[in-house]
Amino acid sequence: MNLESFRGRSLLTWIDYTEEEIRCLLEFSKQVKAEKRRGEVQERFKGKTLALIFEKRSTRTRCAFETAFGEEGGHPVFLSTQDIQLGAKESVEDTARVLGRMFNAIQFRGFKQSTVETLAQYSGIPVYNGLTDSFHPTQVLADIMTLEENSGPCKGKKLCFVGDGRNNVARSLMVICAKLGVHFTVVTPPDLNPDASLIENCAPLAAASGADIRITADTAGVEGADAVYTDVWVSMGEEALRKERLSLLMPYQVNQALMDKTRRKDAIFLHCLPAVKGEEAAAEVIEGPQSRVWDEAENRKHTIKAIMLATLG
Ligand code: CP
Ligand code: NVA
Repeated sequence: MNLESFRGRSLLTWIDYTEEEIRCLLEFSKQVKAEKRRGEVQERFKGKTLALIFEKRSTRTRCAFETAFGEEGGHPVFLSTQDIQLGAKESVEDTARVLGRMFNAIQFRGFKQSTVETLAQYSGIPVYNGLTDSFHPTQVLADIMTLEENSGPCKGKKLCFVGDGRNNVARSLMVICAKLGVHFTVVTPPDLNPDASLIENCAPLAAASGADIRITADTAGVEGADAVYTDVWVSMGEEALRKERLSLLMPYQVNQALMDKTRRKDAIFLHCLPAVKGEEAAAEVIEGPQSRVWDEAENRKHTIKAIMLATLG
């Protein structure tokens, strides 16, 4: 596998990557997973360091980055906002320049997309977006990997996101589906439609890949889906909107009746997790036979390791 074109690059959103490059990372992720299953231990990050900056909480993303980097001999350093000056006593630009002198790569999870972009611009090292208000790119590579493990090559498959259509996960799914030719339907109340500029940016990508992108308020839109996906109704940082979201989204809960609207017994259920059982997804679905959420969580680690191996060399 030729990974030369990835060396030194950041992952801020999938908009910056071609269909072929994303496919290459998917195949490499499968290889990385198979190696791990065979118990092959290598030291491909030996002598390397990774800064992990977290403004928001995390279980999967932090653990995936930290264990993937550490088990290959690298040294990850966890930096919460309690530990680091970023944006408080020091500008993001200056912090980026300093980290760039000490680390080989940076992972950032936080609020503004502009922060992760500034880190990438000023640090001179690969920066990975571990979730911002706008995008969650490492998540959706694991999601597509999980879809392919169950349904085969993703091109021409149908993925439906049901819930808060304007959140970071829905937005990232739209981009990666548009790039890879996955038909993508967002089932959401009109007040939570993805923003027009993102739809506009994705339209030419979808035209090139053959993806059919639709937005609907009707849950019948899940018919024929290979995968039904949901995420929390209240994302980190939006806690004040909780009451409003619950009343808007209750009709969109993914329960067995909604899964049955796919009219496919082989449709799988995906969720980035953490989940609020009884809100966006019923326990019967998360724990049920169509759920692949634990494989999906595990795949975060393999895909994140593949992204770091490709970009760090
Ligand atoms: N899916 C995901 O990003 O989980 P964490 O918030 O636990 O990292
Ligand atoms: N949309 C969620 C994703 C969590 C992984 C959030 O931003 O809180």
